[in-house]
Amino acid sequence: MSFEPRVVVITGASAGIGRAAAREFASSGCRVALLARGDAGLAAAADDVRAAGGEPLTIPVDVADYAAVEAAATRAEKVLGPIDAWVNSAFTSVFAPFEQIAAAEFRRVTEVTYLGTVHGTMAALSRMRTRDRGAVVQVGSALGARSIPLQSAYCAAKHAVNGFTESVRVELMHEGSNVHITLVQAPAVNTPQFSWVLS
Ligand SMILES: NC(=O)c1ccc[n+]([C@@H]2O[C@H](COP(=O)([O-])OP(=O)(O)OC[C@H]3O[C@@H](n4cnc5c(N)ncnc54)[C@H](OP(=O)(O)O)[C@@H]3O)[C@@H](O)[C@H]2O)c1
Repeated sequence: MSFEPRVVVITGASAGIGRAAAREFASSGCRVALLARGDAGLAAAADDVRAAGGEPLTIPVDVADYAAVEAAATRAEKVLGPIDAWVNSAFTSVFAPFEQIAAAEFRRVTEVTYLGTVHGTMAALSRMRTRDRGAVVQVGSALGARSIPLQSAYCAAKHAVNGFTESVRVELMHEGSNVHITLVQAPAVNTPQFSWVLS
């Protein structure tokens, strides 16, 4: 736990757990790249980071778009310096019985919640592995271990994040890498998601 990140990238940084993480990193003086889609939330998160003592950089991005995530990583390093830590918190869900979820809705949850995490991890590791330092943190969920009704797409995506992360973690261990990848299994948290996720 002696690792002291100085440059941190957070996806889903404009709300909920991602924004709370941004404030926490900022309180120890970190430079924090804030990634999400909405400008208003990003601007408010940047204010939080400044108020907590950190340096913010807002980058509007849809994590489902790999090229955009890669470009965001390049911009973060150009402005803030080499990335020490990357937190994947962005997600979306649909609250509905499986038979009421359209194929396009299921696909979107998968592309944001699962592939968004893969994209962030790719962008981070391609930089960290060459330096042999850094940490990737996936914001996982208890629902990645035990699925519940009415959230089939989300639960499947969180299971996929677990499986993907375990493979990559063991690959890094096999290489003797000093790059770390870990998964935080969050409990239920009162964030804005319950007011804006499709229901
Ligand atoms: N809250 C809980 O009870 C709970 C429990 C377990 C795990 N978690 C996990 O914690 C993480 C955050 O959840 P939360 O409750 O804090 O969510 P939240 O309050 O809804 O925040 C979600 C964040 O993700 C961003 N986002 C959504 N779609 C995006 C996209 N396509 N590209 C980029 N950013 C996107 C949102 O901003 P924009 O909409 O502006 O893009 C927002 O900043 C998720 O991974 C979730 O699975 C939450």
